[in-house]
Amino acid sequence: MIPYGRQDITDADLAAVRSVLTSDFLTQGPQVPAFEASVAAAAQAPHAVAVNSATSALHVACLALGLGPGRRLWTSPITFVASANVGKLCGAAVDFVDIDPETFNMCKDALAEKLSAAKRTGTLPDVLMPVHMCGQSADMAEIGALARRYGVRVVEDASHAIGATYQHRPVGCCDHSDICVFSFHPVKIVTTAEGGVATTADPHVAAAMELARSHGVTRDPALMQGDSDGAWYYQQIALGLNYRMTELQAALGVSQMIRLDDYVARRTALAERYDARLDGLPLARPGRLDGARSAWHLYVVRVDPARRREVFDALRADGIGVNVHYIPVHLQPWWRAQGFAERDFPNAEAYYASAISIPLFPTMTEADQDAVIDALARALA
Ligand SMILES: Cc1ncc(COP(=O)(O)O)c(C=O)c1O
Repeated sequence: MIPYGRQDITDADLAAVRSVLTSDFLTQGPQVPAFEASVAAAAQAPHAVAVNSATSALHVACLALGLGPGRRLWTSPITFVASANVGKLCGAAVDFVDIDPETFNMCKDALAEKLSAAKRTGTLPDVLMPVHMCGQSADMAEIGALARRYGVRVVEDASHAIGATYQHRPVGCCDHSDICVFSFHPVKIVTTAEGGVATTADPHVAAAMELARSHGVTRDPALMQGDSDGAWYYQQIALGLNYRMTELQAALGVSQMIRLDDYVARRTALAERYDARLDGLPLARPGRLDGARSAWHLYVVRVDPARRREVFDALRADGIGVNVHYIPVHLQPWWRAQGFAERDFPNAEAYYASAISIPLFPTMTEADQDAVIDALARALA
């Protein structure tokens, strides 16, 4: 089976992790700050906060922006459930903005319309969470401008998009957002097994996320109420969780980040090869946004919805590990129970009905890719 995604672990990665195991620190040592520095440098972001998953990063991001009961989060219905779940975990109300059918990202026109309607009814969101689906940035200049006009904070869910650029700037620089979140799950561009990083330009937001990831506890006397009792002393000054990344994960991340540009270059070359060789088949190739360079986490083709299941099953039977990203979140049973229903977000539902993610990972050979293309041609014949 050729999987849709696969991590690349080198001897250097193994050595980096092994050296942590024999060091003094399995957690709370020097590797996490080193990993944060490498992500901050790649994203050209002033601050980076590492946690144990992107889900945790999205959660601390929302907490740092004050999302809570009586407040509202809007995200895209075409995402992994985590983007919406974190809003509910903060106690906020969650709603969705339909996607652009070409890029599969939050549609700026749908957003403009929904914000204007929400202003009239006094139901504007507090946090907006666009998702950079498949590794291609949403149209952040437009989305950021709308968010500023209506006083809405922005968290980019860039789980798919480390190494991507938008208008010649790295995704994660936060030019158009308050916070940007990356995932380091094994199918993503770079992995720490499980892991997430939130970048921000705002030192106060970074400090709030650091507190939230570690019990709300500080050892910094400048942040304490009253005087420190001594060198052992710590204070809990906020409510927090244990979302810390381990040193093992961070060491793997530091080692992997050295290859970020190579990974994105290889993924881009494979995606361009798909673009060229899928031409002529009865399918739609992924749409591009002007000024955005994708990190190519996923390559999604769209086929006739009447044939999607048959094509998918034929590919799997042929040894091609295709997948579908994503089932619209609002159609999940838990979210239907919150009041969402079919036809709420028609573009997202039409996308889902036709989408198939085909294999794309940096160690994929051209022979692997030709096998995928041949199998697709047979399945669509
Ligand atoms: C768009 C998106 N958001 C959030 C997540 C959650 O990431 P993690 O698995 O690192 O918690 C994922 C993971 O699949 C994702 O694809």
